[in-house]
Amino acid sequence: MASQKELTRESSYDRVTILLHWLTAVLVVALFALAESWDFLRHGSPLRKELHSIHISLGIVLALVMTVRLGWRVTRGRRLASVSAGLMAFAGKAVHHALYLLLAVQIVLGFLWRWAQAEAFMFFGLFPVQFATVKDRAMSHILGDLHDVAAWSIIVLAGLHAAAALMHHYVLRDGVLKRMLPERAISDFGG
Ligand code: HEM
Ligand code: HEM
Repeated sequence: MASQKELTRESSYDRVTILLHWLTAVLVVALFALAESWDFLRHGSPLRKELHSIHISLGIVLALVMTVRLGWRVTRGRRLASVSAGLMAFAGKAVHHALYLLLAVQIVLGFLWRWAQAEAFMFFGLFPVQFATVKDRAMSHILGDLHDVAAWSIIVLAGLHAAAALMHHYVLRDGVLKRMLPERAISDFGG
């Protein structure tokens, strides 16, 4: 079935795939920026706790977006043939798969970390959520370290991925970036 979905190089991704891609990118950058910014605040301060709550709420949104994105990708989503060949094509695919994997791992780590912290948070300030009642300090420490390493790996890889997309656009001029931009999007249910 996969080969049926492989399109020509001139094609573009469908609107849903494009929307979910940019939603993921915005969420990942926001999650990272939030986490880096609360480091400047005093431990235990109300604003710091507020930022934690927004981070975890956005994390839950990311988990939902990624579930829909992967579901869409394996069912109706367009998967395009690589514009490059050989090693370049392999490297591009490897980075995409590594990003999917790291995001999935990061989401699981985030949930487990909050579980080990056993601390309630407000979901976008609307209602409290608590995953567990007993705190596990040792586990929380390990999960925190892993979550931090995964966060930096995602940001570095996404940075390289974005730089490659810009190189395709400005140097190679092969239309790879354009096919992930809305103006050329094809209909979601047609061709
Ligand atoms: C790509 C997505 C994400 C990125 C880049 C990210 C990044 C980070 C970073 C850099 C920290 C600070 C680590 C440290 O201080 O050592 C952090 C903390 C945290 N993240 Fe995430 N995160 C993401 C997704 C999630 C998700 C999905 C959840 C759970 C729903 C989550 C839950 C947490 C929690 C509970 C903390 C600790 C807050 C505290 O200090 O009490 N994160 N995150
Ligand atoms: C945190 C940020 C980002 C993440 C996690 C991310 C993730 C991904 C993933 C997983 C794919 C593969 C899509 C698939 O085949 O299923 C992809 C494709 C793509 N991304 Fe990103 N992306 C991010 C940011 C960006 C940025 C900033 C740009 C542009 C400057 C960009 C441009 C593209 C393009 C052009 C493609 C299509 C590549 C092709 O058709 O060969 N992405 N992205």
